[in-house]
Amino acid sequence: MCGIVGYVGGKSALDVVVDGLRRLEYRGYDSAGVAIVDCEGDCRLDVVKKAGKLANLEKELQTTPMPGTTGIGHTRWATHGGPNDRNAHPHTSCDGAVAVIHNGIIENFRALRDGLESRGHELDSDTDTEVVAHLLEERYVGDLAEALRAVCGQLDGAFTLVAVHRDSPDMVVGARRNSPLVIGRGNGENFLASDVAAFIAHTREAVEIGQDEVVELRADGYTLTDFSGSPAVGREYHVDWDLSAAEKGGYPYFMLKEIAEQPAAVADTLRGRLSPDGGIVLDEVRLSDQDLRDVDKVFIVACGTAFYAGLIAKYAIEHWTRIPCEVDIASEFRYRDPVLDRRTLVVAISQSGETLDTLMAVKHAREQGARVLAISNTNGSTIPRESDAVFYTRAGPEVGVAATKTFLTQITATYLVALALAQARGLKWADEVAALVHQLEQMPALIERVLGTVEPVRELARELADARVVLFLGRHVGYPVALEGALKLKELAYMHAEGFPAGELKHGPIALVESGVPVVIIVPPRGRGSLHDKVVSNIQEVRARGARTVVIADEDDEAVLPYADVLIAVPTTPTLLAPLVTVVPLQVFACELAQARGLDVDQPRNLAKSVTVE
Ligand code: F6R
Repeated sequence: MCGIVGYVGGKSALDVVVDGLRRLEYRGYDSAGVAIVDCEGDCRLDVVKKAGKLANLEKELQTTPMPGTTGIGHTRWATHGGPNDRNAHPHTSCDGAVAVIHNGIIENFRALRDGLESRGHELDSDTDTEVVAHLLEERYVGDLAEALRAVCGQLDGAFTLVAVHRDSPDMVVGARRNSPLVIGRGNGENFLASDVAAFIAHTREAVEIGQDEVVELRADGYTLTDFSGSPAVGREYHVDWDLSAAEKGGYPYFMLKEIAEQPAAVADTLRGRLSPDGGIVLDEVRLSDQDLRDVDKVFIVACGTAFYAGLIAKYAIEHWTRIPCEVDIASEFRYRDPVLDRRTLVVAISQSGETLDTLMAVKHAREQGARVLAISNTNGSTIPRESDAVFYTRAGPEVGVAATKTFLTQITATYLVALALAQARGLKWADEVAALVHQLEQMPALIERVLGTVEPVRELARELADARVVLFLGRHVGYPVALEGALKLKELAYMHAEGFPAGELKHGPIALVESGVPVVIIVPPRGRGSLHDKVVSNIQEVRARGARTVVIADEDDEAVLPYADVLIAVPTTPTLLAPLVTVVPLQVFACELAQARGLDVDQPRNLAKSVTVE
């Protein structure tokens, strides 16, 4: 949710930290702040923070010299306390010696705050975070890491904490429970961040910090312990993408670049997935073949766009494996007491691998004895670490807050997982699996073709910039695509947009249709057993009531021509693969419409890229 950066080394900490924050701003942009330890003369701690986007802080810093080579910085997505200067991080103690930044929620902060106030502390903000600065002030007797360990023992909830102390000027300390925190190993300098993107310009050598661990970071190395002080060992890894992947590369917005990267993202996710003996290759498997054979029920848990990828996956999983599959919004999953046992496979889909709702669903599933398979785009993130098997999508960093390329790679990944399950159960021969993988391998070229023909979609979006409402209809795998089209429009263009199963239209939603309302209809491919003709009837029904119909259909589908006010033709694909092409015009539509309305496409209001609070 929030972006966290820490630095200790020989460079200007301010420059390194602000540069890191720029790369993490997608995690939250309600406010930003930095704390730098300056030891020219007597050591002191300087803090500057500002409400609003990082640019506000940067403006303030132009007139505030902050020398020093140890520092921390934060971009905030507000939870406790409004997004103003006072609630911006870092927060400091009464004596101004310690500064703390935080990602997560400290659930018992009220009781801790009451205790601190009764002991004479004066707290300045409405945040849960500030209590940590004051608790550290009480616990600090020369060893900042020891103080942090002691404070962590007092906290309930999810937290990444990073702190500096005026009297320990050569170190940054951090603690991690549930929210991510990674070390970047440099030469004579080291970094801490909630995402490797913050330090990729300096080093690609990273170390995962485990759950309930504390790190003491110095210029010449780091020490990891658990909360009780016992030594811990982090997993070291090399980040296999470089700085250019996390930059706009000439596009005005990350989202536009990420839409354009979709063919490569799908191709990379598919690469090397067929083993020489015809099996599907997952990335980490801590399950036996027998465990996979025993699966008699699949649940998919995910949020937002990842949930829609799950809805699409259900069709492939049930069709190819004949195993019943349910798809749950992760935040609802454990509260409805689902029936789970060791034969249940829970597939958790999360781009970030750190969405707390999904993580909690995973933990619940494992407590009930179920097996968990994670599909994630973030190597070493929490959800994969908590799972029994992992499939990494290889979309590269996605910086635009709205998910695009990761959606396509999630669909691709779930299909491969479905094939692996079908194979484990003896329902697909190796040649059948290879044929389906081959079909998937054709998709990047088809997505590329769609990208080459979206100019009319852009024109349409500009034309509809003042529309009050847009409806989306689809059936079968087109229904989740309709939901995704509507979500993209809501989050980017702040428009009222709804997706419906087209067959459900006449049971209520058709009352929303009036003269001129744009209705986007995703038409399934034709063929035996296809819903094509029924959806064509739905187009006629809304058109008869004055709707302006925007029809997404196969390029050789002549049946829709009489009823399409606007036709968006996409290449013909097998039924289950259609979402990989039909969703692309909808992404472009939302992106262009938001731009036409003068909105910031990469940082829509009130949102953050990964949601690490429940
Ligand atoms: C929508 C969007 C969100 C995420 C959701 C899950 O464009 O980005 O709906 O899909 O917050 O995030 P992950 O996949 O990181 O768990």
